[in-house]
Amino acid sequence: TGDTTLDIGFVNTASCTSAITYIDGDAGILRYRGYPIDQLAEKSSFLEVSYLLIYGELPTEAELEDFTERVRQHTMLHEDLKSFFRGFPRDAHPMPVLSSAVSALGTFYQDSLDPFDKAHVEISTIRLLAKLPTIAAYAYKKSIGQPFLYPDNRLSLTENFLRMTFGVPATDYDIDPDMVKALDQLLILHADHEQNCSTSTVRLVGSAHANLFNSVSAGIHALSGPLHGGANSAVLEMLDGILESGGDVDTFVKKVKNKEDGVKLMGFGHRVYKNYDPRAAIIKKTTDTILNKDGVGDPLLDIALQLEQRALEDDYFIERKLYPNVDFYTGLIYKAMGFPTKMFTVLFAMGRLPGWIAQWREMIEDPATKIGRPRQVYTGETERDYRAIGDR
Ligand code: CMC
Repeated sequence: TGDTTLDIGFVNTASCTSAITYIDGDAGILRYRGYPIDQLAEKSSFLEVSYLLIYGELPTEAELEDFTERVRQHTMLHEDLKSFFRGFPRDAHPMPVLSSAVSALGTFYQDSLDPFDKAHVEISTIRLLAKLPTIAAYAYKKSIGQPFLYPDNRLSLTENFLRMTFGVPATDYDIDPDMVKALDQLLILHADHEQNCSTSTVRLVGSAHANLFNSVSAGIHALSGPLHGGANSAVLEMLDGILESGGDVDTFVKKVKNKEDGVKLMGFGHRVYKNYDPRAAIIKKTTDTILNKDGVGDPLLDIALQLEQRALEDDYFIERKLYPNVDFYTGLIYKAMGFPTKMFTVLFAMGRLPGWIAQWREMIEDPATKIGRPRQVYTGETERDYRAIGDR
């Protein structure tokens, strides 16, 4: 139809220009602002990476201190926001709870929502970064009926999140530095991934000049889908299912290859990576460290390793260039850390937040931005006349 090009799923269409994240899917390369992901994962921290993504450069010591302090000052939630959590059913999935609380945030800060006021955008950025871990921990506390803990601002962002999640007011919470390091690294690995489904959602909603809270809230919903961030929970459910039915990896792989009941090997495949996802390679090493920490291990890890090996040798996966993606091993680490499966995608959202913010800000500041409004190829009826109900 005219000059409209059909591109279902935007496989070949760039929707914007961006200077934030670079991916070479064939070579398995991922860089934030030019820095290779493995260097950042090894040497940086989640807040430093957040700064890098949002402001474009690694901070100096003074800049990082100032940024950390500003985030620290905003970790508490408005007391009235807490009552939102009480209204949800106890078994509510934490993803919609997270998304609802994020859009509700905007109602508490109505005087600073103008997308074109730099000071408003800045304070919304800080509030989101500071409050999402608190919201995420409260979504969890609600689901297990435990009291909400106030943040303790002597702790780092990641330490604080772990304490608010697993701590109780009655006793001290012992922070495990290995766990803090592993979680911080996982957050870094999730921090941005250019124009994925949730980030494109954040940009699209923002392109209508919706505020940052509403745009991010929409992104959280997009992330919840099992083909996107929801895959990390789906992987664990898949591994559990294989274990329960006797641990037969070959039968499962056969099912996937025959596309029986639409079964997929969750945690495999990627729209852009046609090679090993560089994030998965880093996570695989961390999986070893965390799962073998107390010599306990996890039978699900054996199944995951067998599945990976089996798939990488199989023509079905080779021909389609299907490799493990970021979600394949994360669930095993989160489980070892004590998170229930439902929380896995919440952790992904916490990690992706600085990416969403950076991309939204880049979009809003770009004079070339227009409201996102794709065209379609119409396949419905041609014109026909209305018939009275008795004549149909
Ligand atoms: N298991 C089995 N077959 C697969 C898989 C898989 N995980 N992924 C793709 N295929 C097949 C697919 O059936 C198709 O086969 P055929 O050519 O015979 O029809 C071929 O590979 C191409 O796949 P596609 O669905 O056209 O690829 P896509 O780019 O549209 O989808 C994907 C990418 C990530 C949605 C898909 O690979 C998938 O569903 N993977 C499982 C879910 C998952 O792990 N998602 C996390 C993605 S990474 C992090 C994130 O974004 O959150």
